[in-house]
Amino acid sequence: MNTPQRPTIAPAQGRLGVLTVGLGAVASTLIAGVELARRGMGEPIGSLTQMGTIRLGRRTDQNVPLIRDFVPLATLDDIVFGAWDPFPDDAYVAAQRAGVLESTKHLEPIAESLRSIRPMAAAFDSRYVKRLEGPNVKSLDKRAMLEGIREDINVFMENNQLDRVVMLWCGSTEIYLERGPAHQDRDAFEAAIDANDPSIAPSMLYAYAALLEGAGFCNGAPNLTADIPVLERLAVESRLPISGKDFKTGQTLVKTVLAPMFKARMLGIAGWYSTNILGNRDGEVLDDPESFKTKEESKLGVLEHILEPERYPSLYGDIYHKVRINYYPPRGDNKEGWDNIDLFGWLGYPMQLKVDFLCRDSILAAPLALDLVLFTDLAHRAGLGGIQEWLSFYYKSPQVAAGLYPEHDLFIQQTKLKNTLRWMMGEDQITHLGIEYYLDEG
Ligand SMILES: NC(=O)c1ccc[n+]([C@@H]2O[C@H](COP(=O)([O-])OP(=O)(O)OC[C@H]3O[C@@H](n4cnc5c(N)ncnc54)[C@H](O)[C@@H]3O)[C@@H](O)[C@H]2O)c1
Repeated sequence: MNTPQRPTIAPAQGRLGVLTVGLGAVASTLIAGVELARRGMGEPIGSLTQMGTIRLGRRTDQNVPLIRDFVPLATLDDIVFGAWDPFPDDAYVAAQRAGVLESTKHLEPIAESLRSIRPMAAAFDSRYVKRLEGPNVKSLDKRAMLEGIREDINVFMENNQLDRVVMLWCGSTEIYLERGPAHQDRDAFEAAIDANDPSIAPSMLYAYAALLEGAGFCNGAPNLTADIPVLERLAVESRLPISGKDFKTGQTLVKTVLAPMFKARMLGIAGWYSTNILGNRDGEVLDDPESFKTKEESKLGVLEHILEPERYPSLYGDIYHKVRINYYPPRGDNKEGWDNIDLFGWLGYPMQLKVDFLCRDSILAAPLALDLVLFTDLAHRAGLGGIQEWLSFYYKSPQVAAGLYPEHDLFIQQTKLKNTLRWMMGEDQITHLGIEYYLDEG
């Protein structure tokens, strides 16, 4: 297969606007972290764009630059944040409320910058997020919501003298929606907006507005949002990058590392039980069965795709996979995720593996959010429109073009991401073939 021609990448000149939909735990932790890192008061740990390296050429070349020195990314100093939220709390209050970062150490020193980020009125409808009701909202009319978001983007760009903007959904998980006739093409979508059709969720209006205003879009939640034909096509036509869905942070991150290991060794799995407790606002929203269903679908899909039960029926054909999320306020943002895996080996003998991950939800999500906006901006400057499959690395439920299946294995995703960066910069792909040594030696 021929490799597509290498793109021309416009330089990362000027200022990059990052608009977060939602100013809750993830968004406020992202904003505070970037502000602290800029001032040398914290390290952006967990971020591939800030800390990761990439090998170029042969192992013996010893050429392993930092990713940010290899590809022309915007710097942290270039970023200007803006946000929407139905609650009027500024980023300082939102971060205090989320309780992720220590106030004295990590919020007070940057309080002034955080206070300057006040959320714009949200395109919000509590029929899509049942557990929330906030006063800082736009009209419920969908056309008015769309026009309002478009205007907000333009005012934000103008007021801050921005050159480019990326939109990131860090909003709550909406109720479960499936693709329908209203999502197929532009005419149907426009008519559905005018008719206030329930199949048009607020998140779709944000994504549509982003594409209409020349911004890339990333979806950190499992909502359908831009995963519909009309927006996928618009992204391709407008040469704007989109990607989603649902940050792959805790339990699913572990699952997409362990499952490929079992499969690589041809070990069978009888059951995989995953349960979580978390007590943040996200947990409260997910306590609603309709929002939970959206999340559950996202979390359940991974094993099926990695293990391919149809190909290995005796190993994975009868697996019992269960995922639970329990709202438990005392833990706040500090989630605990348990996994019990019932596996079997040689001659069918059973074994068990238990994982107890005491993680911090937003501490894991913030670096992914940063990488996504920086890579989306890079893709935009490289003219890469449509679904950015190479960003699957960051998502639980990667968006893929029609007819393709999503890649869930973390290390295949990582290879795909790095090889895409190599291709963008005109470097050879790394195949790990290792044969060149013998050929060279004759
Ligand atoms: N933290 C993680 O590890 C993680 C992992 C995967 C996915 N996610 C998803 O990321 C999203 C954000 O997580 P969080 O912990 O920050 O949640 P959060 O509840 O703290 O913040 C979400 C914010 O979005 C706002 N919001 C809801 N609907 C909106 C709308 N239509 N417009 C503007 N704002 C809106 C809410 O008011 C809230 O402040 C959630 O959907 C969550 O499921 C988080």
